[in-house]
Amino acid sequence: KKATLYVDRNIEVGEVDKRIYGSFIEHLGRAVYEGIYQPGNKFADKDGLREDTIKLIKEIGVPIVRYPGGNFVSDFHWEDSVGPVDKRPHRIEPAWGVIETNEFGLHEFMDWTKKAQTECMYAINLGTRGIEDAKNVIEYCNIEKNTLYSDMRRANGAKDPFNIKLWCLGNEMDGPWQMGHKTAYEYGRIANEAGKLMKWIDPSIELVACGSSNMGMPTFGKWEATVLEESYDTIDYLSLHTYYGNHENNTPDFLASSVDMDKFISAVVSVCDYVKAVKKSNKKINLSFDEWNVWYHSNEQDKKLEKWIEHPHQLEDIYNFEDALLVGSMLITLLRHADRVKIACLAQLVNVIAPIMTSDTGAWKQTIFYPYMHASQFGRGTVLTSVVKTPTYESKHGDAPYIDSVVVKDEENETVTIFAVNKDLENDFELSADLRQFADYKVVEHIMLTHDDLKAVNTEENPDNVAPVNYNGTKFDNGALTSLLPARSWNVIRLA
Ligand code: AHR
Repeated sequence: KKATLYVDRNIEVGEVDKRIYGSFIEHLGRAVYEGIYQPGNKFADKDGLREDTIKLIKEIGVPIVRYPGGNFVSDFHWEDSVGPVDKRPHRIEPAWGVIETNEFGLHEFMDWTKKAQTECMYAINLGTRGIEDAKNVIEYCNIEKNTLYSDMRRANGAKDPFNIKLWCLGNEMDGPWQMGHKTAYEYGRIANEAGKLMKWIDPSIELVACGSSNMGMPTFGKWEATVLEESYDTIDYLSLHTYYGNHENNTPDFLASSVDMDKFISAVVSVCDYVKAVKKSNKKINLSFDEWNVWYHSNEQDKKLEKWIEHPHQLEDIYNFEDALLVGSMLITLLRHADRVKIACLAQLVNVIAPIMTSDTGAWKQTIFYPYMHASQFGRGTVLTSVVKTPTYESKHGDAPYIDSVVVKDEENETVTIFAVNKDLENDFELSADLRQFADYKVVEHIMLTHDDLKAVNTEENPDNVAPVNYNGTKFDNGALTSLLPARSWNVIRLA
């Protein structure tokens, strides 16, 4: 089969905000404990931080990490997580039915972000708590000294402010499962008032308000409109969350989930711009897709979990090859909306629905690690407007293209990268592109991830079962690119 890519060097979608390659660490399962922190482990440094995990995170290049939740945050008392460890309370954690010891807290996380070369995106509790605590925690984190909470931070060992620049105003407040779930109006009001005070304390911060937990929520659309009507002048980004699963074992439908993600983004952009028009505002609200991934493999297992224990194996999806293809397509979808999606977090980073897994004896890469790493490494610069002429197939999400692709140029470093997924399970595609505007470039490499078995996984014993290879057959003659996108494959074609 054949596909043709049309692109123009001068017609741009928008600049890639590197924060779209963000991720997420929640106090959930073994994300924190045994994931990034495990004193006594042979890979742990003097502070108990796992260096093997940090090494893999640096390989990806993760610019921001959302913390500490998730559902966890909606009953979290940030004060529990600071001060002498032996004085920190052990709490019942109703969101995930476990016990939280608070042994790892805010200071430990901020130290970890430095070692992992990332930044913190901090979520506050707007479920069981409110404006007062929002005010206190930002004073603790971002004010230098001579106030109650800033001096408390200094007494706890951090002389310099943490200077956290990006804050989430709660988590999934539209969901009845959320502790302190609210109506759109109730949430819009509290988000506005909490955010207003936070910006009075530190005007340099940016704020993300909760949008819908997924596009299927009964309140979807109206929720966004109402929240924005109440908080438009205060907030900067509206969040989106979505997870997909291959519950029916229908791979073509599953791979078409990126069509759904694309519709979701376009719909939220429309609501943001509708409220902008109604308010006659000049301000543009952009999007923070701060939870996205495949999540379903561990659902049944998690139903059997014993309650009120400490950091059990929870949400430990073992990702297969087809999951990596969808993650690749979701990354392409985010990039294609680079003009409005400025932040995104692959949920999550370690052990919990994550690209990185750990055991007591090591850390390894799940299948989804690869598209995430490739996009973060090579998908920086400016997204070009491109069209791919490709056959499509019918799916439960509507018409789905067999080939998903996006083109990113980096004028400064003189590189062009084409990311492409072939969702056809049987047929290879010949890809051609007229790139005469880049005729003096050469093919640097064509990285390919493909496998005969859609259900193939990586394990600690067999960590390279699904791993990328280099393909040498891509040709670039006088600006004419011809390449092969094998059936069921993720491809990164790099020119420079
Ligand atoms: O990432 C796992 C959970 O999914 C998060 O805690 C919650 O926000 C979402 O429902």
